[in-house]
This record gives sequence, structure tokens and C-alpha cells, in this order.
Amino acid sequence: MTPGSLLEIAHPKEHPFLATLAGRLAAGTLIRGNEPMAKRTTLRVGGPADIYVEPVSELDLAIILRFCAESRLKFFLLGRGSNLVVRDGGFRGVVICLTHPEFSRIAVEGETLICGAGARLKDVANAARRAGVAGLEFLAGIPGSVGGALHMNAGAMGGAIAELIAGVRVMDFGGTTRDLKSGEITFTYRTCATLQNHIALAARLRGRSDLGAAIERRMSTFNEKRWSAQPSAPSAGCAFKNPDGMSAGKLIDELGLKGTRVGGAVVSAEHGNFIVNDGGATAGDVLQLIELVKERVRTLRAVELQMEVKIVGDEP
Ligand code: EPU
Repeated sequence: MTPGSLLEIAHPKEHPFLATLAGRLAAGTLIRGNEPMAKRTTLRVGGPADIYVEPVSELDLAIILRFCAESRLKFFLLGRGSNLVVRDGGFRGVVICLTHPEFSRIAVEGETLICGAGARLKDVANAARRAGVAGLEFLAGIPGSVGGALHMNAGAMGGAIAELIAGVRVMDFGGTTRDLKSGEITFTYRTCATLQNHIALAARLRGRSDLGAAIERRMSTFNEKRWSAQPSAPSAGCAFKNPDGMSAGKLIDELGLKGTRVGGAVVSAEHGNFIVNDGGATAGDVLQLIELVKERVRTLRAVELQMEVKIVGDEP
């Protein structure tokens, strides 16, 4: 049925396009039907993706995108699933994840790190530390991938990934690649306009040289700060963007909403902007809790909270 790609049959009622797509892909590309998304998101909720694929090369990624266009299939780029809620009905279409080692390389050239979209931010921060490159320390505490971080201009500890960008290699949805310089990419707070219709393949992140010990010290301070202020239970990071000039977490805390629960989803006792899964949550619980918090903040403070987490998929 498939000449090359690693097709794994996980369910007797596979998507009708699964075998055709698998047949067009190279050896080494992983493709599965009915792949549970709960195990691929840090919040651990959500139903299955009809088709899940980890391309082995840019060529296979382009083939997948063109197949989706010609078959009118929706697709979605999954990073490490750390800022994501997949609804309980799962995703009708193709979930693409650039986690293959081909997309996860990290190389150092002077004060610049060249990182594949699938590289973990933690690994990037550690590679920078080992090379004596400063300025990337804040990435160590963000549980995502380079591609995901670029897509949402992830940040922490006063830094954001946009500030490090020297260039980004992208693919448009038609499968054509381009190398963009920093001035050709538009970032704002927790968004990247360019990556709404392009896929990040790799980034050049520029730091500055410093002593390894100084870099290590800053990384430890950031880590301590993070673990003292943020929950370790499964979550999708901050649920809401910070409204202008305020911390959404502080606002939610001041309204006494910590501990509010819907099913297995709870507003974290440690940080008001985190919704944690106590072990038994469904995506439905999380989404109901989000609406409840938004409604309380709107009614009591006249503030309309905007989502930071991305919500995808269908209702059950
Ligand atoms: N605060 C409270 N109660 C809370 C939460 C916060 O009083 O429940 C207070 C803190 O004590 C502090 C202030 O609010 O005085 C700001 O809190 P924090 O330093 O945690 O920053 P934040 O604005 O709530 C942002 C990012 C986080 C990032 C932290 C640390 C957003 C939406 N959040 O949170 O990013 O880790 O700064 O740098 O921008 C994420 O994006 O997923 C995320 C977790």
C-alpha cells in the first residue's frame, strides 16, 4: 500500500485519503491515521487527528501541503503542543509536525544559532550556553519548539523570540520556500503576521557573546522564578494574553478565581493565567472554564480577555 513512508494503521476506519498520501511520501516520513492529540499536547486533552504526519524533508512537507490543497483537506502545524487546546472531537484533516531530526538541528555560527523549527527551545538555550552565546536564556523555560515560538512570538522573563531573529526560512502553503531577513517578518505581542500564511522551517537567532558561567547564572535565576510562580501540573501555559499594561494572571487572582473548576479543569492556585488538568479534564471542561473566567473578568472589570492559547478541532 505504501512504497516508502512509515504508514501505521491504528484504526480500522482510516481516512479515505490516508493511503494515497502515504504513497506519495518518502521513506522515513511517519504517517498515521486517527492519532490521539491528547498525548501530543501538554494539556493532555483533545480527540484524534484524522491524519498525522511527520515529514522527513522539505520536499515531503511541500507534497503534503499540495495534497491538502488538491484534496481540500484542512491542515494544522503542530509544534510541541504546549500552547494548544484540541477540542474533544479531534481534527478533521492533516496535522503536520516538524519533529523529525531533519527539522530539529541546532548549529552555532559565531553568535548566531541556526535552529530547525522542530528544535526544542530548551535545547536551543542550552546550545547557546555551551557556545558562550547570551540573550537566549529565557527560552530555556518555554516548553515549546522553535516553530511554535516563532508562530506566536513566544516570550518570558521580559524577552520575546522576535528580538533574536536574524532570519527565518519559510514555506508558503503552496510549498515554495524563501529565506526572509529579520525586516521581512512582522512580529507583534504574541503573534507573527507572516507565519499566519507561511510555515517556519528554521530560524537564525542572534545573541551576543558572554561567559558561560554568567549565562548559566541567568538561566538558573529564570528557572527558579518560573518554578516558584508557575504550576508544574499539565497546562497549555498562559491561557490569555496580557491586556494592555496588566497581567491577566494577576487580574484573575484579584477576582478570587483561582481554584475555580469545571470537571477536571482548574484555574491554577499558583498562577491565575494557567488552567491545569487535574488528570481527568476534557477539552470541553477547559473551554467551559475559559468562558467562565472571561465572563467574570468582563462583568467585574469590563476587560475582554483575548486568548493566547490556540484552539483547534471540532466539537465531539
Ligand atoms: N501575579 C499575581 N497573581 C497571579 C499571577 C501573577 O499576583 O496569579 C503577579 C505577579 O506576582 C507579578 C505580576 O502579576 O507581580 C506578573 O506576573 P508574572 O511575572 O507571572 O508575569 P505574567 O505577565 O503573568 C508573563 C507571560 C508568561 C511568562 C511570565 C514570566 C503572558 C501572557 N505571560 O506572565 O508567559 O512566563 O510573564 O516572564 O505574556 C505564556 O506565554 O504561556 C507564559 C506563561
